[in-house]
Amino acid sequence: MSEDFFKKLPKVELHAHINGSISESTMHQLVEGKQITYNPASLKFKKGETGTLKEVFKLFKQIHEVTNNEKALYKVTYDVIHEFAEENVKYIELRTTPREELSTGMTKTSYIETVLKAIRDCAKENLDIIVKLILAIDRRQTLQVAMDTVQLAVKYREESKGVVVGIDLSGDPNVGNADVFIPAFKEAQKHGLKLALHLAEVPAPEETMTLLQEIIPDRIGHGTCLQPDAGGTRDIVQFVESHKIPLELCLSSNIINMTVPGYDNHHFKFWYDLNHPCVICTDDKGVFSTSLTEEYSVAADTFQLSREQVWELSYNSINSIFSDDNTKQLLRDKWKTLKDNVQNH
Ligand code: IMP
Ligand code: ZN
Repeated sequence: MSEDFFKKLPKVELHAHINGSISESTMHQLVEGKQITYNPASLKFKKGETGTLKEVFKLFKQIHEVTNNEKALYKVTYDVIHEFAEENVKYIELRTTPREELSTGMTKTSYIETVLKAIRDCAKENLDIIVKLILAIDRRQTLQVAMDTVQLAVKYREESKGVVVGIDLSGDPNVGNADVFIPAFKEAQKHGLKLALHLAEVPAPEETMTLLQEIIPDRIGHGTCLQPDAGGTRDIVQFVESHKIPLELCLSSNIINMTVPGYDNHHFKFWYDLNHPCVICTDDKGVFSTSLTEEYSVAADTFQLSREQVWELSYNSINSIFSDDNTKQLLRDKWKTLKDNVQNH
């Protein structure tokens, strides 16, 4: 299959952190002329490089210094949307952790409003992409901060007329215990917000089972260590399978941060063979030097998927989006219209 096929393939992206998705070109423009000493090329892993989770999270700290003001955040969000649209992503749920920066006066409110403005401005340009937003809770935060994020999500879902769709849990999986956030997740569910939680990125069977049973998340990010041979349990697999909780699978991210030893070993195969809903995603296309096009291509190469299987993988992702049935139907119709043209590549 040609690269052109993967690029032309209409795609859905459901797991993309805004500050992890910054292209090198955008980063160059942000750093240029600033007091920041980083070389933009050092704020990402080059092809073939790997790093520990600790190193990955150090990079995020540095990137956050570059995007510590509304102007930079606006540019980043605007550029990221254009870049995904350019590779035929037709629907994306971006996620980001609302951040305040005392040094620049950025507040959580102005942070969210800036991201929403960039999304609105892209919509005005009639790009062929629907953009939604998920607000993230960082595992390092307190329950109170998480509760505040849920309140902000409720408020801005109204104000944005449905652009904000849910809550994410992310951050260094080796830090803290996600159980403490259960009241915040319940509050989010009470308000009809969807939950996409990073779960079992590293072996944590007790935390994973508790969260699954207490919350039943709408989607799982990574789910690297759900299976018994990766530090999970059969009960966990059975729970996820019987509840048909879709998995957001980010192959390169897991290989580069060494939570999976190689593409061949990726848990995509385990779940795909079970016919479980799997959505191919990028996680952090900037930090991990990838694109959704490349992720589909590497999944197809590694697991020898046919053109039809790749198409189905992308088409079935529509089932897992956090939007209403009308949007799902609109996307399904779009996929059907594009099919002949794409399949000929
Ligand atoms: P932001 O939320 O837009 O600032 O995007 C960067 C943030 O996303 C990081 O600080 C982490 O909290 C989160 N993140 C990005 N990649 C990962 C990952 O692989 N695992 C867990 N959290 C992540
Ligand atoms: Zn992630």
